[in-house]
Amino acid sequence: MPREDATTRIGTDAEAIARAADLLRAGGLVAFPTETVYGLGADATVPEAVARIYAAKGRPSFNPLIAHVATREMAEAEGIFSRHARALAEAFWPGPLTLVVPRRAGGATCDLACAGLAGVALRVPAHPVALALLTAAERPIAAPSANRSGRISPTDAEAVLDDLAASLDMLVDGGACPVGVESTIVACLDDEVTLLRPGGLDADEIEAVIGALRRPAGGAIVAPGMLASHYAPRSRVRLEARELREGEVALDFAQSFGPGHLDLSPGGDLGEAAANLYRYLRQLDAGAPGTIAVAPVPMRGLGAAINDRLRRAAAPRA
Ligand code: TXA
Ligand code: MG
Repeated sequence: MPREDATTRIGTDAEAIARAADLLRAGGLVAFPTETVYGLGADATVPEAVARIYAAKGRPSFNPLIAHVATREMAEAEGIFSRHARALAEAFWPGPLTLVVPRRAGGATCDLACAGLAGVALRVPAHPVALALLTAAERPIAAPSANRSGRISPTDAEAVLDDLAASLDMLVDGGACPVGVESTIVACLDDEVTLLRPGGLDADEIEAVIGALRRPAGGAIVAPGMLASHYAPRSRVRLEARELREGEVALDFAQSFGPGHLDLSPGGDLGEAAANLYRYLRQLDAGAPGTIAVAPVPMRGLGAAINDRLRRAAAPRA
C-alpha cells in the first residue's frame, strides 16, 4: 500500500542527531529509538509540542507521558526522589526502568505531559542514540511509544512509519530495538515501591535492590494507560495454545508446535522472545485478519512482561 510520507528519515551520525535535537527544541515531533521500543518525542516543557503527541497518537490526554532525560541530575530536577527511588536510579539507569515520583515545584515538565497528576514519570534510556539526542536537547523529552494509541508498539523504523508517517516531522532510524518490550514502571510516591507495569527490567532484579514490591491485585489498572485491551492486532489472539487449529497462524515459543513455525525463540530464550514479540505480531497481523495461536510462554524473567502484553493483545476490544 503506498504511504503518504511527510517524514524526514535520518541516520544516527552526530550531524543527524544535532538536527533532530534542534527540531525537538523548536517544537517538532521526532521518533527515535530506545533500547525498549521507539519513542514519539516532543519537548516536555512546551504544552503545544506535547499536544501534538496526543493528536498524532489519537491518545486521550488524561493518559500521561514519560519524560525522558539524559542524566539522573536532570531527573532530580523534575521529581522528588525517595531513598528507594534513588537506589533504583543508581542501580538501573540508564536502562528500561521508569520511575513515577512526586513532581518537584519548579520542574520544567508541563502539566499536560503529566496529565495533571501529582507524579511525573521519568526515565533515562540506555540506547546510545536516545542518550545523545537527550543530551543535545538539554531538556526533558516526552515520549510515549511511537504507535497509534492502542496498537502494537514499534521496535523498528518501518513499524513507526506504518502508524505515524503522516504526522511525524522526523524519524531517527537506529535499527531494531534490542529489548523489544516497554520499560518496567514503578511508582515511588510513598515509602513503598509499587509495580505499575511489568517490562524490560525483571521485577526480581528490582526486588534484589529494594526488597518486596507492592503488586496491585490481578488486572487492576494502575497506570492510566494500562487498559485491558491494548497492543491490539486486528487478528484474534488465542493464548496458551497447545495445538494449531484449522486456519490459524502460529506464534510459537521454544518449538512447542514443532519446527517450521514463526517462533519467538526456538531455543526458549525469553530475552530473544521479548525482542521479537511486537515485530512478529505485526508480521502475522499484516495479512487478512484471522486468528493467531500463541504457544505458552513461561512467566519467569521477561516472561512476565511478554505475557502481560499478550493478554492485552488477546483481550476483547473496547
Ligand atoms: O519503554 C518505554 O517506556 C517507552 C519508551 C519510548 O521509553 N515508552 C512508553 O510510553 O511505553 P507509553 O506512553 O506508551 O507508556 C507509558 C505508561 C502509560 O501507561 C502511562 O499511563 C504511564 O506510563 N504513566 C506515565 N506517566 C505516569 C504518571 N505520572 N503516573 C502513572 N502512570 C504514568
Ligand atoms: Mg505505549
